Amino acid sequence: MNYNLIRNDGNMDTWRELLECKCLFARQLPKMPKEYLVRLIFDPNHYSITLRDESGSLLGACCFRPFPDESGASKGVLEVVFLAVSSAHQVRGLGTLLMNALKGVAVESGFGSLLTYADVAAVGYFAKQGFYSVEKNSLPSAWVGNFKDYDGAHLMQCKLFSFVNYWNISAELEDVRRRLIKGVIERNHFPVYPGLEERPDKISDIPGVDRKEEAVKSMEAEISDIIAAASSHKSAWPFLKPVDTEEVEDYLKFVTDPTDLETMRKKNTLRIFRSADMFKAEMKRMFDNCRAYNAENSVYVKEAGSLEKFIMPRIERLISTVNF
Ligand code: ACO
Repeated sequence: MNYNLIRNDGNMDTWRELLECKCLFARQLPKMPKEYLVRLIFDPNHYSITLRDESGSLLGACCFRPFPDESGASKGVLEVVFLAVSSAHQVRGLGTLLMNALKGVAVESGFGSLLTYADVAAVGYFAKQGFYSVEKNSLPSAWVGNFKDYDGAHLMQCKLFSFVNYWNISAELEDVRRRLIKGVIERNHFPVYPGLEERPDKISDIPGVDRKEEAVKSMEAEISDIIAAASSHKSAWPFLKPVDTEEVEDYLKFVTDPTDLETMRKKNTLRIFRSADMFKAEMKRMFDNCRAYNAENSVYVKEAGSLEKFIMPRIERLISTVNF
């Protein structure tokens, strides 16, 4: 992968590259008027980061505008103006690479935040990149007035930390995770038992498992744990709350019996799940509903597959170990 940081410097090669960015943005953001795209991309106050493969094909680009804070009070902010990955390469991590590159550039140049008007369809992506919704009137006064309001878009901010190397953030996070796990194990002096030779009949046969009666969780508690684990999974975001059927007007035409993790949590508190099988059926229905309404190659169906793969084995384990 090759990154390039460019802005209109009057050079023919740069113009060619900026024009390629404009074509990519025009394809991926069809609602943006082309004249508007050209005006901003070619405006020398705007910069673009391009991401190309080894053969030089443009995979993605991000156009941004820096707003340094002359007073120094807020470290300045960088507005993400347009961002797109070519359709053939979406949802493969390139949008994350581009965003990390932008964060790397921003931190190296002394900026403390990114701000964007996120398209409704891209809010989930920005949330995964550390952006959160903000109200315009909560922003530093030095920033307000710099930004144009976009209809139907969400104003989102991402705070940056100067001590983080965003260019290498995946490896750094993995290192932190490894050291944390090692620290927890060392601190708690967990006994280590030999691995199981074969599948035991009962949980209590597993060395180290405490089967004192008071430690055995009720089915309600087990289901509650499973819902909590599902809710904190990285693919849970489309399933956390009920689908807003006022916003998604045709949803009930495709889905007759909606459900989601919050609804399941409430049902569990009311002990509506009389058996683990009943709970399993509802969880499965949530994924089936998602597939019934969304296109097969959509990000929602992808997330359903990933969450299902993670959570269904836990429910199967519950069914096989708890006697109802
Ligand atoms: N909604 C919700 N989540 C998403 C979306 C989306 N539209 N797109 C990607 N994600 C998720 C992915 O599933 C992935 O999740 P994971 O880490 O749990 O697996 C995570 O976000 C990162 O995805 P990437 O693969 O890195 O993102 P991708 O390469 O697809 O790029 C982008 C994201 C730029 C939004 C791309 O889908 C795109 O070009 N979309 C069309 C144009 C667009 O909407 N641009 C943004 C408009 S707003 C603006 O420009 C300011």
